[in-house]
Amino acid sequence: MPASGSRSRIAVLGGGGFLGSHIVPALLARRDCVVEAVDLTFDKLAVPASDRLVLTRANIDEPGVLDKVVERADTVLSLTALCNPALYNKDPLAVIDANYTDLVPLVKLCAKRGRWLLHFSTCEVYGVVALDGAGQPTRTMNEDDTGLFLGPVHKERWSYAAAKQLLERLIWAYGNHAGLRFTIVRPFNVIGPRMDFVPGVDGEGIPRVLANFMGALLRGESLPLVDGGHQRRSFICVDDFVDGILAILERPLVCQGQILNLGAPDNDVSIRGLAELMRAAYTMVTGTGAPPTQDVTAEDFYGAGYDDTRERLPDVSKATRLLNWTARTTLADMLPPIVADYVARYRSARSRAAAGAA
Ligand code: UGA
Repeated sequence: MPASGSRSRIAVLGGGGFLGSHIVPALLARRDCVVEAVDLTFDKLAVPASDRLVLTRANIDEPGVLDKVVERADTVLSLTALCNPALYNKDPLAVIDANYTDLVPLVKLCAKRGRWLLHFSTCEVYGVVALDGAGQPTRTMNEDDTGLFLGPVHKERWSYAAAKQLLERLIWAYGNHAGLRFTIVRPFNVIGPRMDFVPGVDGEGIPRVLANFMGALLRGESLPLVDGGHQRRSFICVDDFVDGILAILERPLVCQGQILNLGAPDNDVSIRGLAELMRAAYTMVTGTGAPPTQDVTAEDFYGAGYDDTRERLPDVSKATRLLNWTARTTLADMLPPIVADYVARYRSARSRAAAGAA
């Protein structure tokens, strides 16, 4: 049995990452539980020391780590992932391991020990475009009706979505045939402070679009628009997303056995539109002009094997019904504080990096 006394114990695998750094403080503030955050680093996690917080510095693929963490927990939030599209065609072996192979033991352990597995999957399982079960185009992506349409195997972009999809199918099968209590969440483009990294400061490569645009704004370089920036995403503010996760944890009976989209369809925007909104927010926050945008081809930007989702719009009716929840924050409201946080956080980091390079 979990050893947390009367309090429930929630393990957050990947508790030091972008989402973890928002979820862990919310759990501590809003639930009477013990939280065990597991990650390799906790630099993003700014929480006061608490006897209800345990930090376990470990990789989940180290022998024995998952065994012990799952044994101690009542509920496991599984957030570890490699989720930057730039990696899917450059390092698909690591991507498949991180998003599938390394998590198979977790699914089995949760089933064996009767733990509730709240697994963070991805909207990318829906693939290139939304198609209904008969292969006809639909506008929104629905958890229980929409087919999952991935591109050909040589388009290695889809290695991530395929790995995530197979893990969902494994979880579902353990739920259906081996008693696993599970909930699968499909986040739709969550954005907020501390997302990914800023290239050249605290990471290398290409982060997801918000962080990459922020890096360009901070360096005063043009914002790259892949294939003209016509692709569309609906971005959800991380605070709304965290509210959705907390609502799930409050409703185990209705949420177990479910797959849930968590997204903000009202914030549907083209990537070009996002770039313009971020440029305006940057100007507002800093009082200085923002660099322009620049069109780039997907092949030049990501290399061979990249492919894209043209439009990604969630159907959130199930989450609204089951959780009494809806995302409320508009892009106009969320972008200025996010940009301000990046500007404040990275101003000193960038000057330190520049001083170190000089
Ligand atoms: C990614 C992950 O693959 C998903 O797992 C994850 O769920 C999702 O982000 C998310 O954040 O929820 P994607 O939306 O394609 O999927 O990732 P981004 O790298 O943020 O790209 C969004 C769009 O912006 C793509 O069309 C991309 O080509 C474009 N982009 C990206 C640019 O035009 N410029 C950039 O500098 C970066």
